Amino acid sequence: MNVVVTGGAGFIGANLCRELASRPTVGRVVALDDLSTGSADNLAGTDVELIEGSILDRDLLEDVVAGADAVVHLAARPSVPRSLADPFASHEVNATGSVRVLEACRRSHTHVVAASSSSVYGSITDLPKHEGLPTRPLSPYAASKLATESYVLAYGSAFGLPALSFRFFNVYGPLQPAGHAYAAVVPAFIDAALRGQPLTVFGDGHQTRDFTYVGTVARVLADAVERKVTSARPVNLAFGTRVSVLELAHHLAKILELAVEIRHEPPRRGDVRDSQADDGLLRSLFAGLEPVPLEQGLAETVQWFRSVVTPA
Ligand SMILES: NC(=O)c1ccc[n+]([C@@H]2O[C@H](COP(=O)([O-])OP(=O)(O)OC[C@H]3O[C@@H](n4cnc5c(N)ncnc54)[C@H](O)[C@@H]3O)[C@@H](O)[C@H]2O)c1
Repeated sequence: MNVVVTGGAGFIGANLCRELASRPTVGRVVALDDLSTGSADNLAGTDVELIEGSILDRDLLEDVVAGADAVVHLAARPSVPRSLADPFASHEVNATGSVRVLEACRRSHTHVVAASSSSVYGSITDLPKHEGLPTRPLSPYAASKLATESYVLAYGSAFGLPALSFRFFNVYGPLQPAGHAYAAVVPAFIDAALRGQPLTVFGDGHQTRDFTYVGTVARVLADAVERKVTSARPVNLAFGTRVSVLELAHHLAKILELAVEIRHEPPRRGDVRDSQADDGLLRSLFAGLEPVPLEQGLAETVQWFRSVVTPA
């Protein structure tokens, strides 16, 4: 089968392209990416075909999607802070761009798997978060991801498009650099620790996250493509691992065998306090899933970092 990955040169996209390219059922993998936050280097040494261009370019998108058996739509303008600075830009890529992708898929009736975000739960404080809870976005980024998943569901209902949208939680792992657009905490901590700098914690550090290893995410996405999985509801893609930011710092200090200093800064606007997924729906669709445990995923991430960061 032939698979197109929008945002395929990004952190999750490049890990997914590598996973897809390793599967015997997959013939051709095409990454469509405008390289705004992704990098061609992420696909170096693979057979993945990189097409540099935007999902907002309708003609290009239709050409690229025409021969595909499936599209995994990951292209987005990431990060809460960037969406606070320029809400319209986030809307254009994440909402309008998703409609463009869905329109291209509709023309050729192509299975589509799209990325939404746990940020859609926003101010809902119930834990764990299950897909039946209401959504209350706290930022334009979260609102734009809610638009993404809503359009995916609408195209499934209105046009019978085979479609699935996943709510990713805090994905971490190799190919996610410290300066990544999400200002993600795992790479920020590892990078600071390896450079002998203090780890910056926004707020008291007791806020919790459900960290998901990117290799697990890539495996689930590739399985969804191979088995053409669809769902009339968005599906959490995380496993209920609830870890505070301070606990994460301690795990990393142990793996790195380094004493780390913590520096607190005020909480960031638009950040949620606690996050933990209910994985019941995910496990009902993907039986026998064995996620990479946190300690192992962090160790693999540290190993990747050591290969790209010069120690202090
Ligand atoms: N990383 C996480 O923890 C996380 C959490 C929730 C949701 N997500 C979602 O997962 C997806 C992938 O995120 P990521 O962490 O790999 O981020 P990323 O920034 O590394 O990847 C996004 C990719 O999309 C590309 N892109 C942006 N605008 C584009 C456009 N107009 N046309 C074509 N390509 C474009 C970027 O160049 C980049 O390669 C996104 O949809 C994001 O919203 C990620």
